[in-house]
Amino acid sequence: NTSEESPEVHSMDSKNLVPTATQFFHTLDGHEELNEQMRMIDLTEEDLTLLRLLKPVVERDIDIITDQFYKTVLGVGKLEAIILEHSSIERLKKTLKQHIIEIFDGNVDEHYIAKRLSIAKIHKRVGLEPKWYLSAFQNLQNVFITAVYNQSLKENETLKVVQTITKLLNLEQQLVLE
Ligand code: HEM
Repeated sequence: NTSEESPEVHSMDSKNLVPTATQFFHTLDGHEELNEQMRMIDLTEEDLTLLRLLKPVVERDIDIITDQFYKTVLGVGKLEAIILEHSSIERLKKTLKQHIIEIFDGNVDEHYIAKRLSIAKIHKRVGLEPKWYLSAFQNLQNVFITAVYNQSLKENETLKVVQTITKLLNLEQQLVLE
């Protein structure tokens, strides 16, 4: 959980498109390729700090987020069948809640990465195809972005929060589809 030695100036003022701050990409020791992936999506320490600030809001709205998620997933017969065969909706709602809240701990470390790789294996085992996985992520993203807009933040704050959340969801997809 370290920062790169050479800082990169890349944060832009949303109006003037000029660099406003020196940011550090998030990196993990011994994960060269993953570090490149995180650099490519511009995942910074600032993003992780912002996630921690958002955590209370996510905790407050977590039931709405997961209810909406499962409503959509269960609308697909094939996916409902997988869930009922391998688990239960109540159980999965609980694990999904924990999973989402953990994203907002802002600790993208060894434990975080390993957990996501193991969740990917679990989904492979139950036969969840990548196209459904990706659809589920988009659904989750829709719910999140709507929730952010409902916060009535300033325009540039909304942009920042949406960018941070989509970066983290994208990282999840990179890990599970590897
Ligand atoms: C298990 C997250 C999409 C079906 C899990 C677990 C998590 C999770 C955290 C618990 C793993 C554990 O027990 O440690 C997610 C996320 C998704 C997603 C973040 C996408 C955004 C789906 C979809 C289905 C699904 C679309 C539809 C079939 C299952 C099943 C299990 C499971 C059946 C339980 C497997 C078992 O316990 O044997 N998922 N999931 N997941 N998920 Fe998902």
